[in-house]
Amino acid sequence: MSLPMARVVAVTTGRDPAPAQEILARRLASRLGVDYVPRSRGPLGRTGLGPQAAVVVVERGRLTIRTGQGALRYHPGMALHRIRLLRSGGLDPMVQAMGLRPGDRVLDATVGPAWDALVAAWATGEQGGVLGLEKVPALALLTAEGLRVYPWPSPDVAAAASRIRIEAEDHLAFLRARPAGSFDVVYFDVMFQRGLPGSQAMRDWRALADPGELTPEALALARIVARRRVVVKERRDSERLAPLRPPRLEGGSSSRVVYAVWESEAGS
Ligand SMILES: C[S@@+](CC[C@H](N)C(=O)[O-])C[C@H]1O[C@@H](n2cnc3c(N)ncnc32)[C@H](O)[C@@H]1O
Repeated sequence: MSLPMARVVAVTTGRDPAPAQEILARRLASRLGVDYVPRSRGPLGRTGLGPQAAVVVVERGRLTIRTGQGALRYHPGMALHRIRLLRSGGLDPMVQAMGLRPGDRVLDATVGPAWDALVAAWATGEQGGVLGLEKVPALALLTAEGLRVYPWPSPDVAAAASRIRIEAEDHLAFLRARPAGSFDVVYFDVMFQRGLPGSQAMRDWRALADPGELTPEALALARIVARRRVVVKERRDSERLAPLRPPRLEGGSSSRVVYAVWESEAGS
């Protein structure tokens, strides 16, 4: 049984917060349009929150989103492993499907925790960059803060993280307002209908993520906004891709995911 999406209803701090944390918590509460609840009022459980309510907790050097199902904190997932592989001359199926080149501007229309965005930002190099859109404002915040403060293992990865800009925005509204050819590649990875086995991190993310689908309108607009390509990641066994009639599927034959590739309207 899947639970309804949790919603952030308040921002608070850890116990005994420094003044800077209280200031940040107030600022984030106002940005998210929710209440700031001083932690001095007692433990989180006594703030009168329902089971589907989530709270952003500002602590020294990190943000946590607490839901009834657990705690969500930023971490880079498999991105660091994928970058290590690329650095040693290996291939990454997403980078291949996107056909990324140094200097490319990528729109990640469903950025989530920015694992794919980090790999794309690394692969496009110093002159490239990624704009990541996330519809759920609290998740956009978690990712943006995570990218900013995570202890990256090397300067090239830290630089890649700094080339990702996160906006809390619905990709459909964004794409409707963009001129043709604004990005080289547009990428979609909406939440899979069923999570992949073993992907605990994405299961935690699912509690707050928007479960919406990629619509034909968003895909058609993306093919205008992209100068070269639109790439959609899906489960190999998903039934959602066929109605979108992808001209080409990429990804290893043993992989559980595929990348559907459309050339842009300008290029096709
Ligand atoms: C599967 S996650 C993306 C994971 C990401 N590719 C990564 O590697 O970290 C999908 C994200 O897209 C967000 N999302 C869903 N519909 C959206 C929309 N219309 N606009 C922007 N973000 C959306 C969800 O809230 C979720 O966080």
